[in-house]
Amino acid sequence: MRVLSGIQPTGRFHWGNYFGAIRQYIDLQDEDEAYYFIANLHALTTVRDAEQLKQATLDAAIDLLALGLDPERAVLFVQSDVPEVSELCWLLITGTPMGLLERCHAYKEKKAKGVVADAGLFAYPVLMAADILAYDSDLVPVGEDQVQHIEVCRDLARSFNHQYGNVFSTPQAKLLDTSARVPGTDGDKMSKSYNNTIEIFEEPKAMRKKIMRITTDSRPMDEPKDPETDHLFQLYSLFVDDEKREAMANTYRKGGFGYGMVKKKLADVAERYFAPVRERRQELASDPERVQRILDDGMRKARRKAGEVLRRAQEACGLARH
Ligand code: ADP
Ligand code: TRP
Repeated sequence: MRVLSGIQPTGRFHWGNYFGAIRQYIDLQDEDEAYYFIANLHALTTVRDAEQLKQATLDAAIDLLALGLDPERAVLFVQSDVPEVSELCWLLITGTPMGLLERCHAYKEKKAKGVVADAGLFAYPVLMAADILAYDSDLVPVGEDQVQHIEVCRDLARSFNHQYGNVFSTPQAKLLDTSARVPGTDGDKMSKSYNNTIEIFEEPKAMRKKIMRITTDSRPMDEPKDPETDHLFQLYSLFVDDEKREAMANTYRKGGFGYGMVKKKLADVAERYFAPVRERRQELASDPERVQRILDDGMRKARRKAGEVLRRAQEACGLARH
């Protein structure tokens, strides 16, 4: 089984990205062969500043390594380092019905919000299909918002195979655990588009400040409160074991406490939780050559695999001269 997923370098990773996606990718690297890449070509549809994209790509690599992605067990690489994928994308795009892409929610939603779509945004799912098919991936862990794109990938693989013979294997989506939906500082889903994020590698002082600003209800301190519907409690639960979680839940049910106390505890546990990865990040950031070596190595492995698949596809559709 080969697992593959991509993550866009469009901002520093927040708690939602970690608990909702990255931690699960890291767990999967033990199961099978795992390929993870930083989707900088997809980020081009929104990030148009060269320096920013370059820095964000490197930051994403360092963050993933610090968080536990292990280059001995998983292939970590940068999407644009594998030009075979862009070539494969063209082979796929020539067989992609316009209607299939017009029906994609991500594209439709952006258009509805008034985003002036370019062809890159429109063809985004085809590039994603090329990413997946280039490595003969079996399993693609993604959030709910990306499941339709995996369906598009499966459709494109099937119709290419129908036209040219059995070239691509058809991958399956593995839905990330949606119960791991992390609320933001205002109680809505944590997302960089909502400006309610707490970043994993935020300086402890800045992180504390953000935690102190988490919204809470204004009911009197004495009143008992339901922990299950409280986003501050949900955030606290991410970092503690069942026993501590239950103890805090009991405090909520009894009432007579201040939210300031919960925030302070949250800041303490979050700081402790991320302290080792913060340290690892500092080590990695101070050795950029090591990070580049890891990415170069990932690139070589990824290109070897993608080269084989591209060759197969080129031969099948009459592009290989020899
Ligand atoms: P954002 O919403 O901040 O733009 P992305 O869309 O880049 O985040 O998300 C990258 C990955 O992190 C996706 O797989 C997504 O499902 C996951 N993710 C993002 N926010 C959350 C959240 N609040 N809770 C759980 N998972 C999340
Ligand atoms: N579009 C994905 C996202 O925004 C990132 C991505 C690009 C991806 N190519 C992929 C995910 C291939 C899985 C497989 O989250």
